[in-house]
Amino acid sequence: MTTEGVSEWRRKNCVMYNEQPLKLGLFGINVGNGCTVSHAETTFEPSWEHNLEIAKRAERMDFEMLVAVGRWRGFGGTTDFNGENLEVFTWGAALAAHTKKIMLFPTSHVPTIHPCLAAKQGATIDHISKGRFGLNIVCGWFTPEMEMFGAKQLEHDERYVRATEWLHVIKRMWKEQDFNHEGKYFKVNQGYCLPKPIHDPFPVLVNAGASPAGRKFSAEHCDFNFITLNSLEFARDMVQEVGTLAAEYKRLCGVMSFGQVICRDTEKEAHDAMAEILEKGDYETATTILNIFGVESGTAPEGFADQQKRLINGWFGYPLIGTPEQVVEQFLEIKKTGLEGMCLSFLDYNEELKYFDDRVMPLMKQAGLRI
Ligand SMILES: Cc1cc2nc3c(=O)[nH]c(=O)nc-3n(C[C@H](O)[C@H](O)[C@H](O)COP(=O)(O)O)c2cc1C
Repeated sequence: MTTEGVSEWRRKNCVMYNEQPLKLGLFGINVGNGCTVSHAETTFEPSWEHNLEIAKRAERMDFEMLVAVGRWRGFGGTTDFNGENLEVFTWGAALAAHTKKIMLFPTSHVPTIHPCLAAKQGATIDHISKGRFGLNIVCGWFTPEMEMFGAKQLEHDERYVRATEWLHVIKRMWKEQDFNHEGKYFKVNQGYCLPKPIHDPFPVLVNAGASPAGRKFSAEHCDFNFITLNSLEFARDMVQEVGTLAAEYKRLCGVMSFGQVICRDTEKEAHDAMAEILEKGDYETATTILNIFGVESGTAPEGFADQQKRLINGWFGYPLIGTPEQVVEQFLEIKKTGLEGMCLSFLDYNEELKYFDDRVMPLMKQAGLRI
C-alpha cells in the first residue's frame, strides 16, 4: 500500500506503515486453545506469564502486531474452546508496559463497552505503549456471548450501523473536548477525554467484517480490513474491492489476513502434525461454531467438511503447512495478492515460534518478504 496520505506521525512511528514487505503478527494468544479446536498436545495456555513470553519472543522477531481475540465465554464441547481467556483491554495495557515496539490490538465487541470507556482505555494504552495501541472492532456474531450483556442481538447489517456510531463517538473522544452526541444508540453529555492518544490522527483501526456491510465499514472508517483467506483469488479480489471502495471515501484501507502455521523439517512431519490436530479435534464444538457462525455472520461458510477442518486446524485461517521452504513459497503467493500482512497462529505458539525464527525467518529475508 502506498503511504501517500498516511499521517507523518504514522509514517515515522507506526510499524504498521514500516518498510517490511509482508507484515507479521500473532492472532489469538489470549484465548484458551488459541485458534486450534483440538486436544492435540501443546504447552500453550492462555495465562498471563505465557502470553508475556510469547509477546516478547514475537517482538524480538520484529513482528509488527499482536491481535487478541475478543471472547466472553467458551463454546462448550470437550475443549470449551476459548472459554478461558484474558480480557483484551487489560491484556493490551499490561503488554504495553512490557514491550517496546510491537503494536497491540485488543479486539473489542461493539455491544460490550460504551464508546467513551473504549476511547478512554484505548488512549490510556496508547500512552503506556507510546503510541502502539490499535483497535480491532468486531460487532459480535456469537449471540449467547453478546446476550450475556443483557441486550438483544441486532439484525446483522444493523450491527454495523451501531458500530459506525460507536466508532464516531470514539473518534470524537480522541479529537474533541466537551462535545455532545445524541444518536440512535448512544448519548454523550460533554464528552471528555484527556490525555488524547499519542497516535496521530488516532490509533490504527482494524475491522474483520467480511460481508458487504462489513467491508463497507472497513473501507469507510478503518485502516485495515482483516479477511478470512478462502483462496488466493479471493484475496486478490478483496484487496481490489476494499481499496477501490476506500478510495471512493478518499481514504486508504489495506487488507490483511491470518493463517495457521504447521512447519516441520519434512512435508510428512508437517502433514502428520496436522493429522493429529484433526484426529484429536473437538468436532462437537466445531459443529456448534459453524452452525452459529453460518447464521450470524453475513458470510455463511461453504463446504461444511472442509470448513470444519479449517476451523479445527486454525479458526478458518489459511493453512501454511510444510517445510520452511514450502511455507515461504506460500507467503510469496500471498504477498502477490496484494495482502499487506499475515497474523499467524500456531498450535504451540511459544515452541513453534522458536523454529519459525530459526528456519523460516531467514528464508523470508532471502525471498525479500522481510528486511
Ligand atoms: C482476523 C479476524 C479476527 C476476528 N476476531 C474476532 C473476535 O475476536 N471476536 C469475534 O467475536 N469475532 C471475530 N471475528 C469475526 C468477525 O468479527 C466477523 O463476524 C466475521 O469476519 C464475519 O463478518 P461479517 O459479520 O461482516 O459477516 C474475526 C474475524 C477475523 C477474520
